[in-house]
Amino acid sequence: MEEKISNKIDIDTIDIHSIPPAEEPARQYYYIKKCRLLLQEIKEREGRELTCNVTNFGCQMNARDSEKLLGILRSAGFQETDSEDADFVIYNTCTVRDNANQRVFGRLGVLNGYKKKNPQMKVALCGCMMQEDLVIEKLRKSYGFVDLVFGTHNLYKFAELLYRCYAEKGMIVDIWEDTDKIVEDLPVERKFPFKSGVNIMFGCNNFCSYCIVPYVRGRERSRAPEEILREIRNLAVDGVKEVMLLGQNVNSYGKEPAGTGFLSFPELLREVEKVEGIERIRFMTSHPKDLSDELIEVMKQSKKICRHLHLPLQSGSTRILNKMNRRYTKESYLALAEKIRRAIPDISLTTDIIVGFPGESGEDADDTIDVIRKVQFDNAFTFVYSKRTGTPAAAMEQVPEKEVRENFDRILACVQETARERVKRFEGQVLPVLVEEINEQDASLVTGRLSNNTVVHFPGDASLIGEIVDVKLVRCEGFYYIGER
Ligand code: 5AD
Ligand code: SF4
Repeated sequence: MEEKISNKIDIDTIDIHSIPPAEEPARQYYYIKKCRLLLQEIKEREGRELTCNVTNFGCQMNARDSEKLLGILRSAGFQETDSEDADFVIYNTCTVRDNANQRVFGRLGVLNGYKKKNPQMKVALCGCMMQEDLVIEKLRKSYGFVDLVFGTHNLYKFAELLYRCYAEKGMIVDIWEDTDKIVEDLPVERKFPFKSGVNIMFGCNNFCSYCIVPYVRGRERSRAPEEILREIRNLAVDGVKEVMLLGQNVNSYGKEPAGTGFLSFPELLREVEKVEGIERIRFMTSHPKDLSDELIEVMKQSKKICRHLHLPLQSGSTRILNKMNRRYTKESYLALAEKIRRAIPDISLTTDIIVGFPGESGEDADDTIDVIRKVQFDNAFTFVYSKRTGTPAAAMEQVPEKEVRENFDRILACVQETARERVKRFEGQVLPVLVEEINEQDASLVTGRLSNNTVVHFPGDASLIGEIVDVKLVRCEGFYYIGER
């Protein structure tokens, strides 16, 4: 393993016999070194290497956090494995809908089985779900075999918690209510060599009435632009071609903490565009209420910003949007979509839709269908509304399941029909594809994405992974293309 794992900190020079440094990230590097020595003893005792497994539930932001967890585990001396029958297993959880929670509890039972066979094994849980009091209560009561539990605000403390997990006995639970801290320069282990997520902000201030995110991820905080740009320049030097700028609501980048004089989101994009080596820029997620003309202009002029915008609609009914606290109307959403399309005709719009929000009637669903027909999304993720404890919508009158199902099926059918038509528009053209991986079903094919995020499968081999190649889009199969070079 490389010894110098940070721009700033050389792990060899750390004196673990002195008291732990108070400042970050030095403190975490101190604990990484302590972990290394402690794990070394276990390895010698066991006469084998120690393995770790990180499982990610949830969104792109969680995926990026999981890369940070893996970075720490690797620096501490673990070897990564695909199996959950490992020496250290951590679940990075999601709680945006209840089924995500159910999945975690279901799988924990399996981990307990592995742990009974391997007394070295440690089980850790972190992420959004851990910020919920009821979850912690349940874990303490019925899942006593879990060794470490922490939340979203103290992820940067993972090295220190990892050390405690081995040095102390019993379940360690460390959950913070909030934080204003952003710690830079911790080790990260990227999943893909050629593309990377980059956090630009954390938290959310919007409080849509159905959404638990503001409660579990805390208030909005933007990362300093110079830190973001430094990270992206380093990624480019490391061979990364595509960056995805991540935030719950990237359009409000730079507004919080107030008075910092940070760039606005479009200004930040202009700076990212200048980074040599970066060929594609994506971002996620945009709230329709904050999408500025300046952003559309920057996208239009850019050679690198991808022709894709994910613009969550949630509902096409102004009445429901109001109850959701989304702060736009059916008409203003349609007008915005039209404005974007007029400026950038080849752009793909994708969206999220919630079906069965309290009070939603068949007519409200008709409004959603009307918007889908008019906007012609390339894809729409449709979710059944999930009641989240503590959110305002949880106290509203819920829609009977049967009605939700009916509306859901109608909306999904409309999404599939319109997307199929829409995605097809490039059939026969030759367009650049960034190749991501060998096709999972057919090893003679590789899989990549167009600038507009549409997936393309075409004959090729591993040497193409990470390359941007021109591909003829021979046949559209619903949401994806079959192509050839
Ligand atoms: N129920 C169903 N879907 C939800 N989302 C957020 N909260 C809920 C909920 N309580 C969906 C929204 C959001 C996406 C990430 O998850 O559509 O855009
Ligand atoms: Fe949730 Fe709304 Fe914030 Fe998105 S913008 S994370 S839906 S509160």
